[in-house]
Amino acid sequence: MQKYYLTTPIYYPSGNPHIGHCYTTVACDTIARFKRMQGYDVMFLTGTDEHGQKIEQKARENGITPKEYVDPIVANFKRLWEVMDVSYDRFIRTTDEYHVKSVQKIFKDLYDKGYIYKGKYTGKYCTPCESFWTASQLDENGCCPDCHRPVIDAHEEAYFLKVSAFADKVEKFLTETDYLNPQSRVNEMVNNFIKPGLEDLCVSRTSFTWGVPVEFDPKHVVYVWVDALSNYISALGYANDEYNDFEKYWPADLHMTAKEIVRFHSIIWPIILMMLDLPLPKHLYGHGWINFNGQKMAKSVGNVIDPFILAERYGSDSVRYQILRDMPYGSDSNFSNEIMVNRINSDLANSWGNLVSRTVAMADKYFGGTLPEEREAEALDNELIDIAKALRDTVAPHIEEAQLSKALEEIFKVVSRANKYIDETEPWVLGKSEDKKARLASVLYNLLETIRICSGLLFPFMPKTCPKVWEQIGADSSLTAYDTLSGFGKLPANVTVHKGEMLFPRIDVDKEIDELNVLLAPKKEIREDEDLDKANVITIDQFAEVKLRSGEITACEKIKKAKKLLKLTVDDGRGGRQIVSGIANWYSPEDLIGKKIVFVANLAPAKLCGELSEGMILACDAGEDDVRVLFLDKDVPNGSTIR
Ligand code: ME8
Ligand code: MG
Repeated sequence: MQKYYLTTPIYYPSGNPHIGHCYTTVACDTIARFKRMQGYDVMFLTGTDEHGQKIEQKARENGITPKEYVDPIVANFKRLWEVMDVSYDRFIRTTDEYHVKSVQKIFKDLYDKGYIYKGKYTGKYCTPCESFWTASQLDENGCCPDCHRPVIDAHEEAYFLKVSAFADKVEKFLTETDYLNPQSRVNEMVNNFIKPGLEDLCVSRTSFTWGVPVEFDPKHVVYVWVDALSNYISALGYANDEYNDFEKYWPADLHMTAKEIVRFHSIIWPIILMMLDLPLPKHLYGHGWINFNGQKMAKSVGNVIDPFILAERYGSDSVRYQILRDMPYGSDSNFSNEIMVNRINSDLANSWGNLVSRTVAMADKYFGGTLPEEREAEALDNELIDIAKALRDTVAPHIEEAQLSKALEEIFKVVSRANKYIDETEPWVLGKSEDKKARLASVLYNLLETIRICSGLLFPFMPKTCPKVWEQIGADSSLTAYDTLSGFGKLPANVTVHKGEMLFPRIDVDKEIDELNVLLAPKKEIREDEDLDKANVITIDQFAEVKLRSGEITACEKIKKAKKLLKLTVDDGRGGRQIVSGIANWYSPEDLIGKKIVFVANLAPAKLCGELSEGMILACDAGEDDVRVLFLDKDVPNGSTIR
């Protein structure tokens, strides 16, 4: 049996998954399912990329460990893949111990071979993107060319990967093979990154600790890309004992990613593999972005759409269909609630769903559900039969090239042709005369066969509803196997249909859009916080360890050396204390003097910019960049316990 190994990127669990993440995962799932139907032994890998400075920062902001931060988010990714019927075979977390071992071994091997050396890094670093850039790569404002936010100067001792030594080899690989797709991206990579001179890549950091420690120099952690890219082989058991499938599945048949990380997958990854003397992957497909309100849908932009809500409302198949159908090959797609609802209505409710329900209803109405065996063919039938028969082999090459929208377009041409065939043959007229029964049976049989072929080919795209279609048209899984999909006339002549539920109810657009606009977007932060809260519960005894008290601010001044800090004198009912608070951006001393506040009374004292701080006053995030202090009523005595 031939193998087929395909991968999604491993996603950062720095925020909950959104529709953008669904695109790659669902696209890979569709290809995986198609390949399984074709008889391949498929290995479909996805996972999460959990290390790095960004995660470390977010965890610190939340007062928890990085692992505590990522765990509930990773659980949400897994939950989403379940909801979306994603049939991955393996899920890798870069925090999995076996992966950590592999990365350490790979790093050491590269070092021993002389491909990793110690140096000093000075560069422009974009923290949100975890990317170093050279000055020439920055955008016109000197910001990150990907996200256009400011970069910082970073320099520190670091290990480097000698990618410069492989510039010619990797250029040859990109230009002489069909690895990188769409092929238009080859020029982009060669002209923008290889021709200007490949610079050695910084592959370790000492400025944060949340990463795989370099075994022989543990103040360094492996810098994100060597850690992340290695997942594609560690997940098969390369350099670890957890799995044993490396020989069987490597090289990958398809890596799929969106365009912003094509650079790492087309240049760095092949070079690492060349250095390790490993076979190179066969194909990389870099697809476009799902944009929303004109920008890439991304957590950091704050324009993400929650796929859980959409799947709940329309069914996961409809969501899968829409995102795959509306992504043009190689370029971006636009998401909006209108686009989605209209797509579901026009293609799934009006066209596909209607074809199935009309056909089944007519077989039921005119023949009590079971077709008679008499037939009367007409020349008109051949056009439908011919395109239905040819469909499988029209679709397969598009799947091979990850052109999923094109594949769907071809299937829906046949669906439309079948609907037109109903108009042409007018079964409701045939149904009126007894001597047209054989003709009517032919028409309905041709429709059922067309539905059988279409539903067989749609199954990898819509795995939930297609089996329901099979049930309605009286087909079982043997009649929708890949081999049967290029032949016409597989259903028994006296097939029995079963009327069933409406698969894709028509959506009332205006009403729906209004409801959606209310439902979507604002939910996301709450959901994430709730999940974090649930994962980090404490007992009432633990809470009681925090002594909260009331106090009155009797004096307040700015601290010259630190723009953000205010020095407060607080009457705590016990002779007073000094508290330093980072609220100067939002409050001036006059706003605070005389106010009653809540403070943590038993916090270990600390020095902030040389000033002693005994405790912490409570304040609340009130927006993107806004903070409000918790004030108490004037008549609360100072030093009272808050519980
Ligand atoms: O980059 N449209 O993780 P990530 C289409 N950990 N696809 C989108 C998308 C959008 N708006 N937003 C996200 C990383 N994606 C690294 C990868 S791989 C060794 C390490 C998808 O969480 C798309 O597949 O930022 C993109 O490449 C990926 O999510 C980036 O995920
Ligand atoms: Mg990213």
